[in-house]
Amino acid sequence: MIGRFRTTTLLLALLLALSACDLASADENTVRVYSGRHYGEEAAFERFAEVTGISVEFLFGSDAELRERIKAEGQNTQADVYMTVDAGNLYLAAEQEVFQPLDSDALTDAIPPNLRDPSGLWFGLGKRVRTFVYHPDRVDPDELIDYEDLADPRWEGRLCMRDSSNVYTQSLVASLVAHHGYEDAVQIVRGWVDNDVDILGSDILVLETIAAGGCDVGIANHYYLARLLEENADFPVELKFAGAEGEGVHVNVSGAGVTRHADHPELGRRLLEWLATDGQNLFVDGNHEYPANPEVTPEPLIASEFGAEFKQDELGAAEYGSLNADAIRAMDEAGYE
Ligand SMILES: [Fe+2]
Repeated sequence: MIGRFRTTTLLLALLLALSACDLASADENTVRVYSGRHYGEEAAFERFAEVTGISVEFLFGSDAELRERIKAEGQNTQADVYMTVDAGNLYLAAEQEVFQPLDSDALTDAIPPNLRDPSGLWFGLGKRVRTFVYHPDRVDPDELIDYEDLADPRWEGRLCMRDSSNVYTQSLVASLVAHHGYEDAVQIVRGWVDNDVDILGSDILVLETIAAGGCDVGIANHYYLARLLEENADFPVELKFAGAEGEGVHVNVSGAGVTRHADHPELGRRLLEWLATDGQNLFVDGNHEYPANPEVTPEPLIASEFGAEFKQDELGAAEYGSLNADAIRAMDEAGYE
């Protein structure tokens, strides 16, 4: 269920102070966000309201639900900004004409080309690294080089991964399709299946199963391990960046764009520009994401535990986002559930 709009506290205070005839002007100074990303955006929205005087109203829901809602609302949508996780979701929203192109030097200066839509429909704001996680007592990290290596028989009965319906899995496999071609990507995924991979319903489950001895190595988004390490510094799972000797590690994004029928496209643009620059740390740090803006320093836990620098797969998020349907087909063909 999608809830009602929530609002920054500043707006609440404003509304209390305003008479009814002033509400229209308050509305003129409010940007509305539909967000499928729920990783502590509130703090960033509140700060944005404080520094700019532009209030943020937002509602959270599932990525698909909100995308459908914006489409159904058409010209009457209240959403100025659609925010979501995963390049696949961003690509799909762009395909379905949810966004309007933004012409913003601030955004194109702040966000590298591979992390945004080439025509300015959406911009990645946070980076999520999808890579190896393993139990250090049972795995020699030198054996973990690239995603395709997990198809080697030495990993039989030792793998845990996320299900094929998950968009993070889909984007990773889409990147394999981009780099290796469709047929080879099917072979790689089939190799994981032949290794009797244990397919689980969340990244946290993958990490906890490794910790509990149910498997030795898996693939997860880095910030889930950061969360567990934040709770317990001795959590017995380590992370290694895949692809250091090849294409680099698969990097996904959370991001946003201004909606096609936004009432306040200028305010939407200003929010995105702020989130990509001064607001980057507030936006990404709470979820232990890496900043999309290369000028911004990652928060200390991920910088010290995993490293601030890594070789990143430069494949464009829009490019592997566009291969989402191929990835789903490849997993189906390989028998990966
Ligand atoms: Fe996530």
